[in-house]
Amino acid sequence: MTTTADSSTLAATLNSIIAEHQGLEGPLLPILHATQKALGYIPSEAVPVIAQQLQLTKAEVHGVISFYHFFRSHPAGNNTIQICRAESCQSMGSRELEANIKQRLKTDYHQTTADGEITLEPVYCLGNCACSPAIRVNDDIHGRVTMDKFEHILDELLTVAVELK
Ligand code: FES
Repeated sequence: MTTTADSSTLAATLNSIIAEHQGLEGPLLPILHATQKALGYIPSEAVPVIAQQLQLTKAEVHGVISFYHFFRSHPAGNNTIQICRAESCQSMGSRELEANIKQRLKTDYHQTTADGEITLEPVYCLGNCACSPAIRVNDDIHGRVTMDKFEHILDELLTVAVELK
């Protein structure tokens, strides 16, 4: 789900997730993962609820959300593209690739293109170092990515999006 959650859906979802994970040792991360999986992001309204239930401060919960790049505070677009910024990919040109992709999409990390199609995110190793530089497009990992290859991937992605509409 990538749309904004209404307050009753949010409350029901959070109550269910917290009840399911509260007994775990260190329940905060599993609760945050489950929340993002269910809602597509972690709404700001979820922070005080989770904090209260786990007897943490809002700052503690917020600190964990902002520490991990994986967590989003805003709804994502219809597709998510992650660009690897870890060492192997950097040594194979990922910095230049990310600059070109940002320019091509007219968006920055943690932002979504104006048409709502693509959210761009950094990631730190996709386990595909032998084929650096690597990106992930939704669930698919692509290696040895050049701008030509990226254009092809983007073309396929947006063609599928148009066909599904
Ligand atoms: S460093 Fe990029 S996939 Fe491992």
